[in-house]
Amino acid sequence: MTFIKTAKSLPKGAHTLERHYYVDPDILQKEYDNIFLNNWICAGRSSELCESGYYKVINIGMESTILLRDEHGELKAHVNVCRHRGTRICNHRSGQFSKSIQCSYHGWTYGLDGKLMGAPHMDAVEGFHKSDYSLFPVAIAEWDGFIFINYSHTPEDFDSAFAPLIERFKDWTIDELITIETKKYEVSGNWKLVIQNYCECYHCPILHPDLAAITPYLSGQNDLYEGPFLGGYMEFNEDKESITGSGKLCCPPLPNVKNDDLKRVYYYSIFPNMLLSLHPEYVMYHMVWPNGVDKCTVTCTWLFSKDIKNSTRYNPKEAIDFWDITNKQDWHISELSQLGIQSKKYNPAPYSGQESLLAAFDQYYLKNISLT
Ligand code: FES
Ligand SMILES: [Fe+2]
Repeated sequence: MTFIKTAKSLPKGAHTLERHYYVDPDILQKEYDNIFLNNWICAGRSSELCESGYYKVINIGMESTILLRDEHGELKAHVNVCRHRGTRICNHRSGQFSKSIQCSYHGWTYGLDGKLMGAPHMDAVEGFHKSDYSLFPVAIAEWDGFIFINYSHTPEDFDSAFAPLIERFKDWTIDELITIETKKYEVSGNWKLVIQNYCECYHCPILHPDLAAITPYLSGQNDLYEGPFLGGYMEFNEDKESITGSGKLCCPPLPNVKNDDLKRVYYYSIFPNMLLSLHPEYVMYHMVWPNGVDKCTVTCTWLFSKDIKNSTRYNPKEAIDFWDITNKQDWHISELSQLGIQSKKYNPAPYSGQESLLAAFDQYYLKNISLT
């Protein structure tokens, strides 16, 4: 949904991506292999796994990962493949294990830590050691209450990879915020169109007049403009305080958000699948999951201070409803983009100066997708 002026100007000759990046299944497979399965990706909030045994399953292309909280309160992630004959162990999207994870085929049973605990009749097999058949681990990290996983065999250290962001949003105390609402959208468009749409507000006056009335589309400044993290802020109009139906705060600002940050909304895309939007009184994040070259699932989650949930004085729905409408406007135009780009007559065209972050996203994306 964002911004404009940038400390770094648009690279000369920057233009939109070629058609095949939006229609070719081989490209999608490369995106799975080299991007989604080779980077830290956002997988939700750690509060979703609030008790021992709680789990959720993340599917990316042909791969599936079980995320859970173990009996020591630690977050763990395991490849969702039985070490016996490879059966997918967990076929639900979320739930709670008791103290173990059992494959429904022959009953091999694993601890929450992934160690094989029971394997009927395998003791008689010469040279078989249960310790050799733990579930394969997936790297997992938590930052500001968000879970990230990395499927790579050699994941980059999370703190190094996220160094530019680790302390950046501490005034919003995101780790203490709670989920008030999550909405799920099925979008008939390539996942990159959703990210690219978020990275500019060139479209705001036409597509979102109500949003443009709160944050003028030429306001603001980018402060991260190359690499995996892109974004900056936009400023509220003088008579506006936040992005809500009324343009007023829907509850008090978060206590440590002060001064200029009370007059701004910050938007960041966090490569490859997360969009993070910080308002004075709430935080919103999107996750984007490819489901095909022309399909993606997007979730949007609104995080507020926990005092808000039980109070009748405040109305977080003002923020949720406003963004729900805006989201749908964005998904609709992204679907129309997909339809147009599928035409053989589509041809890349130059980006405007207000689309410099799209050029930066494309550049980082192209660098990542060609890793082999
Ligand atoms: S495939 Fe899982 S127990 Fe046999
Ligand atoms: Fe938009």
